Amino acid sequence: MGKILLTGGCGYIGSHTAVALLEAGMEVVIADNLSNSSRDVIDRIGTITGKKPLFYEMDVCDGEALSRLFSQEKIDAAIHFAGYKAVGESVAKPLAYYRNNLDSALTLLETMAAHGTRVLIFSSSATVYGDGTPPYQEDMRSGICSNPYGWTKWMIEQILKDAAQADPTLSVVLLRYFNPVGAHESGLIGEVPRGIPNNLMPYVSQVAAGIRDHLNVFGNDYDTPDGTCLRDYIHVTDLARGHLKALEYALDHQGTEIFNLGTGQGSSVLEVIRAFEQANQLTIPFEIAPPRPGDLPVSYAATDKAERVLGWKAEKKLEDMCRDAWNFEKKLR
Ligand code: WQD
Repeated sequence: MGKILLTGGCGYIGSHTAVALLEAGMEVVIADNLSNSSRDVIDRIGTITGKKPLFYEMDVCDGEALSRLFSQEKIDAAIHFAGYKAVGESVAKPLAYYRNNLDSALTLLETMAAHGTRVLIFSSSATVYGDGTPPYQEDMRSGICSNPYGWTKWMIEQILKDAAQADPTLSVVLLRYFNPVGAHESGLIGEVPRGIPNNLMPYVSQVAAGIRDHLNVFGNDYDTPDGTCLRDYIHVTDLARGHLKALEYALDHQGTEIFNLGTGQGSSVLEVIRAFEQANQLTIPFEIAPPRPGDLPVSYAATDKAERVLGWKAEKKLEDMCRDAWNFEKKLR
């Protein structure tokens, strides 16, 4: 078998997926411009697996550089992680988001076509369900996204569906992630937010580390059991295993398939705080703050399709996610 290209493979989800693929005996090539990650992730992946991925420092929007990569390596499949992902920033800089996220996806697709690579797995997001009613089923009509980041995921999904429709030899899998959290149990790789974290778990970890003095809980008057929002948090190593299963599936099927990667369970913000405190034996000071604009009260996955078709199911519990998130945070300091 040839090699698997991971664009954005130095990032949070890409690096954990690189580990899962290398441990399954696959050869991994990473293309990353390090705009939101660092080179030592390559060494860390090597330390965990005993095998080092090949690394190309490059921007996936650079068609010539990408074409050189495809000429030098025999790429059987690509997993496209590279992209901008900060929701708030996408509202402030929509053109940068549309340019970068759409351009990288199109450049990758065109380069794959020119070099005869037929298999593509795409990092999509539960955000494409918009304001639909959970549990979200893959065949539900996607909703109205609430920000440009979400729309880029929605648009790239559509582009990939159209491309696979036009070329029946293509195999495309769209993976809709719910809320990935936690880190590799070694504490060597994990999520490294730039500046003030937007997402709950990295923020809680920084409060635990004393970098922030308290957590603001965005709203406690939602129509949920304790009034705070429910999310489907999934351990990043479960998510990484999901990519391996999706890749194996895509390598012997054609057409487009969509899979949710979630646990199917909603946890509230207060439950996350409690789980973090219990798993790590510490206290997270928090205050109730006004709701964050654009937040949905409830989001969780329907998981039966991934289980039935891919034979994949998330295994780790909220407690594992909190323990591994804190283990990683401690090693960063
Ligand atoms: C979870 C819950 C907040 C921070 C976002 C994107 C999504 C995807 C993942 C990524 C919510 C509450 C949070 C805080 C809080 N994108 N919260 N205090 O909003 O479900 O999903 O990240 O690449 O597209 O929308 O995740 O972790 O930001 O929030 O109370 O300081 O925690 O209100 O209820 P979200 P999140």
